[in-house]
Amino acid sequence: MKDFDVGAHELGKVLIPKNRLQERVSELGQQISQAYDGKDLALVAILKGSFIFAADLLRAMTIQCSIDFMGISSYAGQPGSGVVRITKDLDESIAGRNVLLIEDIIDTGLTGSYLLQTLRQRKPANIEICALLDKTARRIIDLPISYHGFEIPDVFVVGYGMDYQQAYRSLPHIAILHPNSKSIAEPDLSGE
Ligand code: IMP
Ligand code: MG
Repeated sequence: MKDFDVGAHELGKVLIPKNRLQERVSELGQQISQAYDGKDLALVAILKGSFIFAADLLRAMTIQCSIDFMGISSYAGQPGSGVVRITKDLDESIAGRNVLLIEDIIDTGLTGSYLLQTLRQRKPANIEICALLDKTARRIIDLPISYHGFEIPDVFVVGYGMDYQQAYRSLPHIAILHPNSKSIAEPDLSGE
């Protein structure tokens, strides 16, 4: 197996333990099931970061819905610009359907805003966002987030599907990744 080169970084403390994630994801599943009861619902999970959350959320839901996947990546050298490239498009049309976008984390909001814009052109009946994590402190674009699991401070997190250079997705909890090098600034945990 490939050794991941995660450079000068090390895992920090657990921010959200496995049992809290499971509890919250079940609550979200129930909430979404009530909100969409009797309606047609298409889940659209954004790859890769949301695949574990989406799988658990789907199993926590009590209504029938479809699920489709969209792969995106930021344009090389421009992470955080909000300009994303679609690496895998949806298999099915979303025209006329109620769409719930499943995201791992909303940070600046640029990616979510781009996705909303792009998907609205396909004429869904309605489109809402469900994000596991919400880093409100770093928001640049105001984004309507209908469902979110946890609000977190401005720290870089990994686990439960989320990666740093493709590593750590398999952690069952969410942990903070700390830069281990003096050349990289420590994340500000003060929340200011
Ligand atoms: P935004 O466009 O700034 O809202 O960034 C959204 C995307 O950046 C997320 O879907 C993640 O893929 C990635 N991202 C932002 N913060 C983190 C983090 O703390 N850990 C892992 N990925 C992150
Ligand atoms: Mg993502």
